[in-house]
This record gives sequence, C-alpha cells and structure tokens, in this order.
Amino acid sequence: MKLTVEEKRLLNGERGGAARLAMEIIVRLGELYGAKELMPISQAHIDGCLYTAVGEAGLEFAEKLYGLGAQVVVPTSLNATSRDIVEWSNHKVGLDFSEKNIRMEQAYVGMGAVPTWTCAPYQAGLVPRFGQQIAWAESNAIVYANSVIGARTERYGDYTDICCAIVGRVPKFGLHLKENRRGRIHISCEGLSLATTADFAVLGYVVGELAKDLIPVLTGMPTWITSDHLKAFGAAAASSGSVAMFHMVGITPEAPDFKTAFQGVKPEVELSISDLMLKSKRNSLSSVDVTAVDIVTVGCPHLSAAELIKIAALINGRQVSSNIELWLNTNNTAYNWLENTSVISDLKKSGAKIFRDTCFVNTDLSGWGFKTVMTNSGKYAHYVPSRNGMKVAFADLDKCIETAVSGRIDN
Ligand code: F3S
Repeated sequence: MKLTVEEKRLLNGERGGAARLAMEIIVRLGELYGAKELMPISQAHIDGCLYTAVGEAGLEFAEKLYGLGAQVVVPTSLNATSRDIVEWSNHKVGLDFSEKNIRMEQAYVGMGAVPTWTCAPYQAGLVPRFGQQIAWAESNAIVYANSVIGARTERYGDYTDICCAIVGRVPKFGLHLKENRRGRIHISCEGLSLATTADFAVLGYVVGELAKDLIPVLTGMPTWITSDHLKAFGAAAASSGSVAMFHMVGITPEAPDFKTAFQGVKPEVELSISDLMLKSKRNSLSSVDVTAVDIVTVGCPHLSAAELIKIAALINGRQVSSNIELWLNTNNTAYNWLENTSVISDLKKSGAKIFRDTCFVNTDLSGWGFKTVMTNSGKYAHYVPSRNGMKVAFADLDKCIETAVSGRIDN
C-alpha cells in the first residue's frame, strides 16, 4: 500500500504506540480489501464501546489503546453503552456489570470521544455533511449516513472504528468511492399503503431481504417521509440484509432522479413490493401464539424528541398498567431538549421508564425475567428472539401504547 510520509511515521511508531497499533490494523484492513492507499476522514462513530457487544475482549482492547495514550484526531461520537449512566441502579443493573461499563466509558471518553451514547448520532448533533468521508460503525447509523445524508462510510465495526478515529484515515475502498455507491436493484414501491413508523420498518425489512448486500433504488416513496421513518426503514433493512446504503428517488441526495441513482447504468434486477408482501412480513415479525406481553419497549434506534412528544400525547395522562413495563429508549440530546417541558414529567408520571444511553437488547436484563416483548421496531423484532430469547409481538406505536396502558393485547 502506498503511504504518505506522515502515514509511515504513524506506522513506525513515531506518533506513539497506540497510533502504531491502530495504523497497523487500518493498513491490514485496506490490504484485505485491495485498497491502494488511505484517505483522510473528518468524523467517526464508535460502536465498540458497547460492552454487551464486544465483551471482555473489547474492554481489554479499549483499555490497552487508552493505556498506550491513544487520542482520537477527528470529532468522534459514541454509540450506546450498556447501562443508563444516571439511572442504572434503578433498572436492576448488576454492580459488576455496571463497573465493566464504567471502565469502557472512561476509556473511550479518555481517548477524546464525545459521550453521545446513542445509536442515532445523526439526530444528536454530530451530523456529517453531504460528501464528507467518515468512519461510522453501527449498522443503522451507517445506512442513514450513506443514504439520507450522503456522507461516505464503509461498514466499520468494533475495533476498526476506533482505529480509524485514532489515525484519522480509512482505506480508500468500498462506499468511500463514488463508483461503488451506484444503485444495483430497482424496487418499485408505487401505490403502497405506508403511514406509520412500523410500516416503514416492515418495508425496510422486506427491502433488506430482497437487496441483501446490493444497493437498492426505491421509486414511488412518499415525499412526506420523515427522519424517524427513514431511521426505522434503514435500521430494519440493515438487520434483515446487509444494506449499508439505499437510494429513494426524489428523496435521498444521491438520487435526484432514476438515472443518477444508477449512475447511468441499467438496473441488474427489477422488483416491486406489494401491500400483500408487507402484510405477510408484518405478521412474520411477531412470534406465534403471543397472547400477553411482559414489556412494551420502543426506541430502536433511539427515540427522537419528536417521537417522545408523540408517545406522551398517546398516553395522554393515563397510567401504564401495573402488570406491564413500558420502556422508552432514547439519548440525552432528545431527553435534554424536553427535560424542562411537561413531556418528560408526564411520561415519568405515567409509569413509563425512560432509558438514556442504552437500550433494551443491550442492557442487563437478568433481574427482570421478561418472556414476551411488544415493539414497533423492526430491528428489535429481528434481534430480540435470538439475542434475548424472548417472544415478540410486533405492532404500531399506538397499539404498543394502548397495550401498555390496558395491560392486555386487544386485537
Ligand atoms: Fe440502538 Fe440498541 Fe437498537 S443500540 S439500534 S436501540 S439495538
């Protein structure tokens, strides 16, 4: 690989042991993908700070880098951690588990990352701009950055994410290059009945299954689609397939028209999605024989302030039923915006639990004994059965809230 003078210094250890280790990993990653050189980045988002995802090895790696004096050289946001940093002791999180997280949090913040603790950094202030080269990890953030913002990131993962942030460089490959960002599959969504966030999650799930790792181009999408809809769509598409980027013609920035989305090349495959396909997929996201739930949880990816406001309106002064938990997963940005409004106090008064910094599948649930969960998140519906061994009932947000208030699933 062709390296600049400064890159050779980093690799030789002239900028310290941490930079040398990070550079060795980034150069090796580039060689594996056939990259001829590195390129500078201007932002990073780290997923490796999530203790439940990386475990002891990830903690050891973070502490090793920090101990070697590592510092990030570009603005770097942090994904969720595995506990609510303020409220963890009220959430039955074990002391030992919490202490592991404290060490992880200290290592990453010590390396100069911003303690955003969210999987939706694009709704929490550190938003890249169009065309910017970045190194983001966390599948939903990657797909949002590439598709909705038009920033350029490959699918970075745990360990490589922090290495990119320490050296401020990535291999010149994959989705960093314009030619690899062209659409490959055309999926027509003309005439679909789309209204709720759950509808867009189901659509994303179907698109992920159809596209797998190819970039889909969707036509016929409604122009009123919101940031929260796009968040739900991308998270589900990245869960069911390995979608790291999509185009929506007339909506996303690299797809002002059909031809531009495909960069003038003909689509390799032409498909269409029907309401019947969405209905069938929606049904399959729920486990069979769910007649009652222990917990309703929404906010995967993290709830925006707009979504918290909507949930407070749906609860409308009522109480969460005593036989059920209602957990709302969000970040400090959304929480702080609303802290001095009635929204947060109304939600708390209702009995809903607000989890900041973390989420349902990534915190310590060992003290709860949940068996069945209801959610409107396609990503949760995908991961909860395998990660948490629970049954899932998938439903729209209003049904989730009604279930939490009534304590039973009404059909
Ligand atoms: Fe975020 Fe947890 Fe979902 S980290 S994307 S809320 S699994």
